[in-house]
Amino acid sequence: MPDALNIQDIIDVTYDKYRTADEGEVAAYIPELAKADPNDFAICVTSMDGQVFCAGDWDKEFTIQSVCKPFAYQVALEELGRERTLSHVGVEPSGEAFNSIELDPRTMRPFNPMVNAGAIAVASLIKKESTASGVRNFVEKMQLAAGRKLKIDQAVLASESLTGNRNRAIAYLMLNFGIIDEDVNHTLHQYFSQCSLLVNCRDLAVMAATLANMGTNPLTSEPVFDFQYIKDVLAVMFTCGLYDHAGEWAYRVGIPAKSGVGGGLLAVVNRQLGIGVYSPRLDKKGNSARGIMVCRELADRLGLHAFEFTNVGSSFVQSMF
Ligand code: DON
Repeated sequence: MPDALNIQDIIDVTYDKYRTADEGEVAAYIPELAKADPNDFAICVTSMDGQVFCAGDWDKEFTIQSVCKPFAYQVALEELGRERTLSHVGVEPSGEAFNSIELDPRTMRPFNPMVNAGAIAVASLIKKESTASGVRNFVEKMQLAAGRKLKIDQAVLASESLTGNRNRAIAYLMLNFGIIDEDVNHTLHQYFSQCSLLVNCRDLAVMAATLANMGTNPLTSEPVFDFQYIKDVLAVMFTCGLYDHAGEWAYRVGIPAKSGVGGGLLAVVNRQLGIGVYSPRLDKKGNSARGIMVCRELADRLGLHAFEFTNVGSSFVQSMF
């Protein structure tokens, strides 16, 4: 167990250790994402008493991509309740890639809300009368979670809309099985817009801390999420958040997390910390390569794994503030 170091020191040491790691490639299947600087790197941690510790390019904006999925799932649970949401999307890890064109053969539902199919089903549930109002509703919720104004990157949205034929195929497959309604373009606009939300690494850490803090933003003290559903969201993040890397993640890091192809990764240490990492070089499974390295390091140094030896992690983290 580490002793004299404080959280900022641990973040700085971890940042320095991985600053020059250059494994992985920036996502290029959405042309606009290929413009990201592969060397960008940031780590932020937010505590439950509202302190934020950062290193690197913490204020550099990037699109949230799949990190929007747990938040959209939370919105669906709040707006439709558990049973209605579950009738459209399951909670089983798929063991497949994020963009797999596959439904659970027993139910014809998407496996879970973290893979594209499930997230598109969720987008269909939370879209509103007009395309603009559905997107606005989601952005407003995310602004409360981040504690600042956020906007959509229109260039990324256009780029993904233009090239998103695989997601279109997934959506039509789900229309065929009655999982989503026939307003497929509206649903995809909702999904692509959610993915195109601009955030920075600090936002990710604050959003994660809002989930960890029973739904209340620890910086603004504003209640954001209905806490009765946060355990649903964290459970699905824990088992499915890193797609076909989810098992190894649970084994080695052991905290609920979600990655995005923009390079963001967010992890939630329940009742203790929110973690954000930004590094756009992705591994072969579409997860931030340095994001995984950093979370593994922080989990080891701070004893964050959910099944870490009795309370070493939590009492250590609490003693640091
Ligand atoms: O559906 C897509 O292709 C993207 N908008 C989001 C994918 C994503 O971030 C996958 N995560 N690692």
